[in-house]
Amino acid sequence: MAIAKFFHTIKLIVELQEENGMLNNKIRIAIDGPAAAGKSTVAKKIAAKLSIVYIDTGAMYRALTYKALQENMNVEDEDEMTMLLQQTEIRLFQHEDGQRVLLDEQDVTDEIRLEKVSNSVSHVASHAKIRERMVDEQKKLANDISVVMDGRDIGTHVLPNAEVKIFLIASVEERAERRHKENLEKGYTSDLSQLMEDIRQRDERDTNREVSPLVKAEDAISIDTTSLSIEKVVEQILQAIEKKV
Ligand code: DC
Repeated sequence: MAIAKFFHTIKLIVELQEENGMLNNKIRIAIDGPAAAGKSTVAKKIAAKLSIVYIDTGAMYRALTYKALQENMNVEDEDEMTMLLQQTEIRLFQHEDGQRVLLDEQDVTDEIRLEKVSNSVSHVASHAKIRERMVDEQKKLANDISVVMDGRDIGTHVLPNAEVKIFLIASVEERAERRHKENLEKGYTSDLSQLMEDIRQRDERDTNREVSPLVKAEDAISIDTTSLSIEKVVEQILQAIEKKV
């Protein structure tokens, strides 16, 4: 198995598994959309099917947010957050069970999914200086390899030349229901109406922020996942990819 490592300024590392020959050419697949629209579930499945790397860009913003909360910092203060990022090492590792996130050597893969992180991360992601740095790193990661990347600005800013761009949407009710189910399955307490409100607020902040707001790229294919199974969504995306390769 060939392992390639990438070291960059935020010390992002991606370990790659050898491509299985399904793809002869490099392909970059951008999956954007609002919170809980199913992006990561679908992106992971596509990456596994094609044996290419999956990069969850939201995890980078989440890792920084987690550190800020641990250190009782003000996530709304751009200068504070920028300074914090300069002293932060984020590593993304590809593992058999998915992407793992190391923050300053500590594995925070599970911690970055905590509700308190989810509710603060859109503040951190709204800062121009933070985005500039993160986007630079994300672009470098996709320079030489085939990737599926999910986020909010992948098709518009990170990979504007991606061969396939997908924009996933789903109703707020459906997205809250999905998160609610996930929480209960994990044994967490969960309040459906609170989740709905949190998702609304995150949509509002992600869509209305000044820098790279959540917006569908002109050439992205829109898929409403509200009443579609994951398999159906994956199938539609694979068909779109097939047309390109
Ligand atoms: O996809 P997610 O829920 O893990 O994203 C966490 C936050 O980061 C969310 O507020 C949107 C933001 N984000 C972003 O602005 N740009 C990205 N490429 C990825 C995530």
